[in-house]
Parts: sequence; structure tokens; C-alpha cells
Amino acid sequence: MIAGQSSPERRKVTVPDLARFQEEGRRIAMITAYDATFARLVDRAGVDMILVGDSAATVIQGERTTIPADLAEMEYHVRCVARAHPRALIVGDLPFGSYQVSSEQAIASSIALIKSGAEAVKLEGGITMAETIAAITRCDIPVIGHIGLTPQSFHRMGGHRVQGRQAGLEAGGRDRLLQDAGAVEAAGACAVVIEGVPHDLATEITEKLTIPTIGIGAGPGCSGQVLVLHDVLGLSECRYRFAKQYADVASIVVDATRTYVDEVRDGAWPDLEHSFS
Ligand code: KIV
Repeated sequence: MIAGQSSPERRKVTVPDLARFQEEGRRIAMITAYDATFARLVDRAGVDMILVGDSAATVIQGERTTIPADLAEMEYHVRCVARAHPRALIVGDLPFGSYQVSSEQAIASSIALIKSGAEAVKLEGGITMAETIAAITRCDIPVIGHIGLTPQSFHRMGGHRVQGRQAGLEAGGRDRLLQDAGAVEAAGACAVVIEGVPHDLATEITEKLTIPTIGIGAGPGCSGQVLVLHDVLGLSECRYRFAKQYADVASIVVDATRTYVDEVRDGAWPDLEHSFS
């Protein structure tokens, strides 16, 4: 097998597999990727789901929040990931402004991501998005919900703040998040991301739902976990308490590039071994 290619004998992960994993109690591993190179590598590592997240706005484009991401950019990143033909399920993230206007807009945006190669779409919001989730699902497009710290709600939350710490039915309140989770499941979502909430709340939601919950900053009680690839690899500018850095790829990149720069400057590169005669 060529380094970076998916093993042909590994079976494709499909949406119905998510329910099967849940039944079998098999934890789901999801990670983000935004291009073909990293999609191939994370697929080789055996992830179940690749999220082409709107975090592309922050980790790829250098924005402060995910709010500037637009649909054309997300279609582009989904196409790049799909060209890696991963075994993992490809989830395309609906960016801010591409689904909030109407169900018709949400369906059109979801179709655009599916035509680009996504196999499911993800959107942020609970009760207020239930009808939108149902409308997309009626078009046979699988939807993954996203509740808790929803980064597209940055301005309402006053920053990226842990949600569900206080009781209450207002947006971000603990009781409201329990209702949000139930509404997302009842609307037909096939899984739900729970981000930035106390671990006991995420566990309670997971116990109440039948669909898998995918946690990020939500503790160990979820059915699966998701992290942003750049945080995992140590490529992000910031370190977050909820994100474990599994490698220091930034240092590898800087060291290798510095060696290249030194060799160019002192004439050691290129040598005759890498030259044509
Ligand atoms: O865009 C993204 O990467 C996400 C994850 C943080 C869940 O939505």
C-alpha cells in the first residue's frame, strides 16, 4: 500500500453504521480535515468520521471565529476531502448564514455540500433548528446536530463560553440544552455533536438519547469524540483545555524548513544526487 492511501479492504463507514456502533457500544472517533492530504492520513489512522468543519475559517484561513466561513469555501474543502476517497464518513459543515434564513435555503445548501462529496451535513442549533433538520432529512440528506457551545453563536454567547452551567430554559441554560438535544433527535438527526458543556450534562444527554452523541469539551460520557486536527497535531496558535495535543508537528515543520533554508544558504542543497545529468 502506498503511504497515505486508504486500505482497500477496510469497509466504508455509512450513516446506518452510526446506529450500529451505538447499539454495539462502540465509541466513535471523529476528527476534522480540510484537504485531501490530511484526509488520507487521518483515514489511514482509522477514524470513523471526517468532519469538514467550518473551523476551516480559523485554522486554515486565520479568522478569529467561524462566522466568516461561506458555502462556496465549504464546498471547496468538502471536494478536496472527498477526492481522498476516505473510508471514514464525510460530514460537511453548513456555515453560518447558509441555513438560518429558511428551510429552502438549508436544503439548497445541504444539496450543495452533498454534491461536493459530503455524506451527511452538520448544523448548529437545537429547538430553533428542529424544523430545518426535519426538512433536510426529508430530502434523504442525513443531518448531524450540534448543541452546547455553538461557535456560530459567538456574539450571543459573548465569546466561546462553556454552556449549560446554569439551570434554565433560556439559550445555553442546562434545561434548555436537554430540550435542544431531544428536539434534534426527534427532528431526525442521525447524531449530535455536544460542545463545551459540563461533563455530567453531556452524560445525561447521552443517556436520554438513542442517537450517538459526539463530544468536544464535553467529557468522557459521550458516544464518541471529535477534535480539530490542528489542535491534535499542535498546529494551532492557541491551546485549549478540552483539546489534547498528541504531537508537536509545528516543531517538525519549523525544524525541517530551517534545515532546508540553511542548506540552500550554505550550498549543501541541491547535491548531485538530486540533480539531473
Ligand atoms: O467546525 C468544527 O470543527 C466543528 C467542531 C468543533 C465540532 O464544528
